This record gives sequence, structure tokens and C-alpha cells, in this order.
Amino acid sequence: MPVVTCIDDLRSMARKRVARAIFDYVDRGSYAEQTLRANRADLEALALRQRVGIDVDRRSLATTMAGHEVRMPVALAPVGLTGLNWADGEMLAARAAERFGVPFTLSTMSICSIEDVASAVQKPFWFQLYVMRDRGFAASLIERAKAAGCSALMLTLDLQIQGQRHRDLKNGLTVPPKLTLGTALDVMTKPGWALNVMRGRRKSFGNLEGRIPDAKSLTTLSQWIAGQFDPTLSWKDVEWVKGLWGRKLILKGILDAEDAKIAVQSGVDAIVVSNHGGRQLDGAVSSIRALPEIVDAVNNEVEVWFDGGIRSGQDVLRALALGARGTLIGRAFAYGLGAMGEAGVTRALEVIEKELDVTLALCGLRDVRDASRAILRAA
Ligand SMILES: Cc1cc2nc3c(=O)[nH]c(=O)nc-3n(C[C@H](O)[C@H](O)[C@H](O)COP(=O)(O)O)c2cc1C
Repeated sequence: MPVVTCIDDLRSMARKRVARAIFDYVDRGSYAEQTLRANRADLEALALRQRVGIDVDRRSLATTMAGHEVRMPVALAPVGLTGLNWADGEMLAARAAERFGVPFTLSTMSICSIEDVASAVQKPFWFQLYVMRDRGFAASLIERAKAAGCSALMLTLDLQIQGQRHRDLKNGLTVPPKLTLGTALDVMTKPGWALNVMRGRRKSFGNLEGRIPDAKSLTTLSQWIAGQFDPTLSWKDVEWVKGLWGRKLILKGILDAEDAKIAVQSGVDAIVVSNHGGRQLDGAVSSIRALPEIVDAVNNEVEVWFDGGIRSGQDVLRALALGARGTLIGRAFAYGLGAMGEAGVTRALEVIEKELDVTLALCGLRDVRDASRAILRAA
């Protein structure tokens, strides 16, 4: 077993093991990938202040996110097709998160269903909702999430229309994965992945089976999304979802201070500053650059969370320093899953926790809740 010291190690392992179409689906971004790159570059450009001569014994990373106690301010982001990186991947990732003590968010576009994941964990998990044109179906997803005991609903607002990921088109990404002449050569070099995914309980969208007639015979993912996702989604619908759900509600995909103010008015519990990991509006600002103005705009009236580009504990601390109460990680855990299954997700969390802990200390802090702009060097 190779020594895994950082998230990039897990990424390299996943790249070797997972079929190219699936690895690229995880790894890549939309169009020219400017926003994908900016998410990383702008995080890395934030210099931390090294402080000395301060007692940093007995540190604490624990906090809360929307009232949920977390071992560190990191939750697993909703990631579609997680279960094609490793058989039953959503169940494994949910279990790893539960054992570790951080929240897991199940995507609408998951392979394992809401009920599959509920059977794998003891404590409540979170569910992410995409609103479809068929509102009856969206309402039924909300009901299923309630029945499964989900404690928070994350409504994603930045994908009512899908940005194009060139790689997915070139790779002919289909769900379930189809063997074509183009993919066969690649898959032949990844027999471990193929055998493992074949053994999984599902190969297609677990939440959609039996509800949408052609969920078993999809063409390309993007065609299907274009047909089903509702481009009319508006703030009125947030009210509708809130009324149906009645538990903690989180809005994901806020990148603009004006939108953040509207979100506050809608009375939600948290917002996630996010550009969908550079997978939607290419040319949009990086999430870390948008974060401070959004934190200022909401003026503590709602919890502000952050995602986009986090690959280390240092990145988590940078986001906290700029005012995020919590963070989500997408690719960082997906690489772990693709590399080593459940153990890889745990490893990803351990790596980030260790880095966060050491970085906190070297910045002269003992409690993660004390992170503020004071730990960043002025530009
Ligand atoms: C492979 C992949 C699939 C994703 N699927 C979803 C999804 O189904 N729903 C959603 O709200 N966000 C989805 N996202 C966005 C993530 O929730 C999150 O915003 C993003 O991954 C954060 O950036 P990071 O990957 O750099 O951590 C997806 C991201 C990736 C990488």
C-alpha cells in the first residue's frame, strides 16, 4: 500500500485505477476551465501569517454547521456518479464520513439511492436536490429524503442549465457506462475498476429508477439533464421547497453578494459560496475571491459555507479566515474513493484534518473557530 501523504497522492492513485471517462468527469471543469484553475490559484495565492511565541497546545477543530456538530468544519459535497468510482461508493463515503464525524451529502444524481445510503448509516445524512421540470417528482424526492431521516436539504441553484465539459463529450460519458471501441482499450488497463463496479448493486441513477421511464437506458448524461432539469427555477421555488421540507435548508451555488442578500431574505439556514467546482459558468470568479464580499453582505444573518478548490487543510483554514463557517470538499474525497474505496475517503479526511490542525497551530491559533482575516497576510 503506497504511503498517502496528501490529496494529490489519492488523485494519482484514482487516475491509475478508475476508467478514464469517470476520472475525467470528476477531475475536469467546464469549457476552457478558467474558473476551475482560478479556484485553486486564488486559494494558493492567499498567504498565511506564521506566528510564534504562542502556546498552541490543546487545539480544537470541532464546531457546528447548521446546528450539526462536526469534528472539523468540512462536509462531503454532493458528487454525482460517486458510485461509479467504486462500487456502492455513496454508501461507503457516507459510512466513512459518519465514522469520522463529518456530514455526508448525497447527490440527486447519485448511483446509490437515498434508501441505500440510509441502510448503510446510523445517523442522519444530508440530501442535495436538483429541481426537475416534473415538480411531482421533485416533491417525491423531498418526501423520500424526509422518510430516510435526512436532517438537511441542500438545494443547488447553479445548474438549472448545464455548462459543457468538453472531456465528457469526447469520452462519450454514459450512465450506466457503456463499453465502446474507444473506451475498451482504456478499461482493459483497469480490470480492477471494471470488476469492482460490475459487482456494485447499481450502475445507474439510484434515485431515478422506476420514476423516470428511460432512467435505465440513458444516452449521454448532458442530454438527459438538458431534458429534465428545470430552467425556470427561481426564488419562488425556494419558498416552495422550504415549505415542503420543513427542516434545515441550505442553498448551494451562491457566488454574488446580491444573490446572497436575497438568500438571507428567504430564511434559509446556510448558503454555500460555490461555482460548482468550476464545472458551470466558465469565466466566473473563483469562489474564494467571492467569499469576503458575500460574508460582508449577509452580515451574520445566515451561515456562509465555502467550496471550490479545497485540496488541503491549509485551504480549509484560508476559507475560514475569510469568514466561512464551514467548507465542503468534492474532488478531494472523490479521489480518495476512486483510489481506495471507503478507506480512501477516510484517508482524505485524515489528511485534511492533520493539515488543518498543524496549520492552525503554526498560525498561532488553538481553536478553529478563532480563524479570522488576522491570520492572512495583507496582500
Ligand atoms: C464529479 C463531481 C460531481 C458533482 N456533482 C454534483 C451534484 O450532483 N450536485 C451538486 O450540487 N454539486 C455537484 N458537484 C459540485 C460539488 O458539490 C462541489 O460544489 C465542488 O466539487 C467543489 O469543488 P471541489 O471539487 O474543488 O472541492 C459535483 C462536483 C464534482 C467534482
